Amino acid sequence: MLKGAIALAVLPVAGFTTERRRSPVLADPFTLGVASGEPTADGVVIWTRLAPSPLADDGLGGMPAGAVDVEWEVATDDRFIRVAQRGIATAAPELAHSVHVELTGLRSGAHYFYRFRAAGHVSPTGRTRTAQAPGSLAPMTICFASCSNYEQGWFTAYRRLADDHPDLVVHLGDYQYEYAAGGGGGPRRHVGPETVTLANYRQRYAQYKTDPDLQAAHAAAPWLVVFDDHEVADNWAGDAPSVPQPGFLDRRAAALRAYYENMPLRRSAMPVGIDMRLYRRVHWGDLATIHMLDTRQYRDDQACGDEIRTDCTERLDPARTLTGIEQERWLLNGFQQSRARWDVLGQQVFFSQVDLTPGQGRGVNPDAWDGYTANRDRIVAGIVDSPVRNAVVLTGDVHSHWAAEVHEKADDPSSPVVATELVTTSISSGGDGSDGRDETSAVLAENPHIRYFNGRRGYVRMRVASDELRADFRVVPYVSRPGAPVRTGASFVVGDGEPALHSM
Ligand SMILES: [Fe+2]
Repeated sequence: MLKGAIALAVLPVAGFTTERRRSPVLADPFTLGVASGEPTADGVVIWTRLAPSPLADDGLGGMPAGAVDVEWEVATDDRFIRVAQRGIATAAPELAHSVHVELTGLRSGAHYFYRFRAAGHVSPTGRTRTAQAPGSLAPMTICFASCSNYEQGWFTAYRRLADDHPDLVVHLGDYQYEYAAGGGGGPRRHVGPETVTLANYRQRYAQYKTDPDLQAAHAAAPWLVVFDDHEVADNWAGDAPSVPQPGFLDRRAAALRAYYENMPLRRSAMPVGIDMRLYRRVHWGDLATIHMLDTRQYRDDQACGDEIRTDCTERLDPARTLTGIEQERWLLNGFQQSRARWDVLGQQVFFSQVDLTPGQGRGVNPDAWDGYTANRDRIVAGIVDSPVRNAVVLTGDVHSHWAAEVHEKADDPSSPVVATELVTTSISSGGDGSDGRDETSAVLAENPHIRYFNGRRGYVRMRVASDELRADFRVVPYVSRPGAPVRTGASFVVGDGEPALHSM
């Protein structure tokens, strides 16, 4: 037994070629795990970042000032006997010694294993896959998640998500939080001050990425990521922070740069100054097209002081935009080109109208689409007036599970349902949570298009097939201590060609 185990551990290392550029790194630099993302029918991005001392204050993870060669290997088996491709990438200090390898030439609809080697150390092995080729309607499983505050709970839901073996993970933002150590309360503690500088953000990502449950989720499947607000600062909007502060644009530039460094993104997403092109489309055969939206960089500042008020009319101004004009045009054009069975929108904030004020008056969240109603109306009209066959909106942000039907006219519940919205709760933000909240029944009663609420932590597992889409709202009973089990709180099915939620 022991002999076999040793042989297995040694064999893979022998597969690598000799390193070209030696480095003085002695400790294991693979403390942040591995990741993959951006799958196409013939490729995927594989990622790692070298950091032998991940929590170093300067954000450089204990790496020397120079560049380091990192070997990578992709195989069809987890013992790396059948190697499909291998090569050498450079981990440069300018990008915090991160490595993003854009693989091409792989088989479509196929699973692969990958790993890295540097300074005599071998990384953990990641599992990934390519998308299906055009024409395929083979079913797939997508798990989607958002909002993992390290201080407020253990990342058990990420571990359970990995255990579900998804084909794809969609992360809808608040991957990390900017707050200073001790700011969130809860069982764990952030390292460092509130993140403002590039060093702060790099150090904070490194801390999050040392989490074994998060590493397991990254190693299980390719991810598609978008940020929300906390990757930069609470409720920022375009060039504006929610709390006035000097040097916000420098802060935004630092935050976006660190985001790129720490995510399995393509080079096309590398920020230039304060700008980063993050909105994009991913095709999965003829089954699904996933439109990943950026609802932070191009938005107008929140209406009505970003407060929930019943008399806010500013939000109805047709000139207001959440997506920006260019991204809106890109999305509407994508709808016109649609050939997919399911068009999926991966985005951050609540899309459906939600009246949060019980009784008289309507109180809506100005940070969500309700604060940018004309922009939303044009997108809904774009779905209706296009070949889009089934539209499903995926949402994060609100630290609770919701399921909703999207009406053609948000204000008119008798207008046809044209899409469905699935909102995932947080991984850990908000602590343990509870199934319901004091105001839940009042909110549900005033919003008949909303069919489900749950205030616990978890994620959503979505099975997408040619004839139906099934969403399982996964919940864990606690995050204040590790190791919680997971269960399905509710399941809904949407049939092909019929945008309605059927409770299972
Ligand atoms: Fe959040």
